[in-house]
Amino acid sequence: DEAQLKSWFIGSIDQGTTSTRFLIFDGTGNPVASHQIEFKQIWMEHDPIEIYDSVVKCIEEATKAFTGLGHSVSDIRAIGISTQRETTVLWDSVTGEILHNAIAWPDTRTQALVRELKKQPDADKLQDICGLPLSTYPSALKLTWMFKNLDKVQKTYEEGRLVFGTIDSWLLFNLNGKHNNVHVTDVTNASRTMFVNLHALDYDQTVLKFFNIDTKRMKLPKIVPSSDPHAFGQLDSGPLKGIRITGCLGDQSAALVGQLGFAPGQAKNTYGTGCFLLYNVGEKPVISQHGLLGTVAYHFGGSRKPVYALEGSIAVAGSAVKFLQHNFGFIEASHHISDLAATVEDNGGCVFVTAFSGLFAPYWIDDAKGTIFGITQHTEKGHVARATMEATCFQTKAILDAMEKDSGRKLTQLAVDGGMSNSDLCMQTQADITGIPVDRPIMRETTSLGAAIAAGFAVDAWKEFEELKEINRKDRTFFRPQISAEDRTKMYRRWERAVEMSKGWLR
Ligand code: G3P
Repeated sequence: DEAQLKSWFIGSIDQGTTSTRFLIFDGTGNPVASHQIEFKQIWMEHDPIEIYDSVVKCIEEATKAFTGLGHSVSDIRAIGISTQRETTVLWDSVTGEILHNAIAWPDTRTQALVRELKKQPDADKLQDICGLPLSTYPSALKLTWMFKNLDKVQKTYEEGRLVFGTIDSWLLFNLNGKHNNVHVTDVTNASRTMFVNLHALDYDQTVLKFFNIDTKRMKLPKIVPSSDPHAFGQLDSGPLKGIRITGCLGDQSAALVGQLGFAPGQAKNTYGTGCFLLYNVGEKPVISQHGLLGTVAYHFGGSRKPVYALEGSIAVAGSAVKFLQHNFGFIEASHHISDLAATVEDNGGCVFVTAFSGLFAPYWIDDAKGTIFGITQHTEKGHVARATMEATCFQTKAILDAMEKDSGRKLTQLAVDGGMSNSDLCMQTQADITGIPVDRPIMRETTSLGAAIAAGFAVDAWKEFEELKEINRKDRTFFRPQISAEDRTKMYRRWERAVEMSKGWLR
């Protein structure tokens, strides 16, 4: 019953691209306490120590708020963790010292390298093995860059002391206390490195060879399911010391779980720093023929089979809003974007291809650059604000079209969450551009909720997905398409032309 569900809790770390959060949920899926910290963006790098410190601080502050409400730490049954994916950290196995800032997933310094690698034999086999197209996006490229450019990394590798990790591994290593030497990754994070065979869910020799990696010299994290009672260890310090970490997911997988997207055919779109549409394809991986990524959705362990997804990754969403804020000074805070966009009727003919990292799915145009088309003497800030939000909506439409081709099924509605989904105007635009209803929950911390669910399953807080069915279902908002099919086609054609014209800048 409800009183019973409100008497126990699960903590959840959400380590994203620009901020870190810690939330504590009760058994009804309601967040009772939270804390959030933004951390420094060093171009496209992050300081791994600052990231870890931000997690520690968020745990401390949220726990303070939690106990301040009269709750007891002993009622927190487990902790889940969700992280930005692909971002790559290297450290020394003997000293634990990090060898370089983490290279973050949207970084494009490997453009030329990708072009070189594409010419190598076996390059065309990679996607069939790991589900990911060869691009600047996966961890493998960031690692290769560090090998080639950083003497310290080379030296540590030669000495056989190099440790590779994504943010989940790095945090788990630290949260457990370095002396315990925990070095694991969950299967969803692992599937973003490029090193993993999507069918076998283990490191793949062909891929490792392709990237010249000798695993005797570099330690890769052990791959484990996303929900596990023991694999992730426990907190070694702080107010929640001794509480086990029992769930771990890449943040986009976590959001799918948090939206309860457990059935094949269900999908969610999360508007964070980037925007990521994950479509549950069931227990067999699908290799995309239309520019999407084959990836692991989640694996709840035990007798449960891993579940896969097709993913459409958009590199730039909220980061374009931050761009208008910080680089152009158009707004004082990200959430003002919607009000600015509402100062004008429409985009006034402006189309903004926000290709700051080239364009990801389904286009994979590495030499596209951010380009604004259709500027006139009458263009106002509001038009650019609208065009900025529309860019993500158009790319979502392109991804849905690709998904329909890959899966043979048309999505009939789109569950959304993340920062930009707070804007009614943006979500109405999304419904207009895709022609399907957009379904937004009232509690939009679905990423954190998903990691909490994975953690809760491992400690039997919940045993069946059926028990979750009431979570976050009430008071959802539906945005239904309001423009004609003709207008939709016209807008989208203009976007497609703009994409064409934004490319070719490396030539
Ligand atoms: O693949 C990158 C993704 O995991 C980052 O998510 O929410 O920080 O944009 P987000």
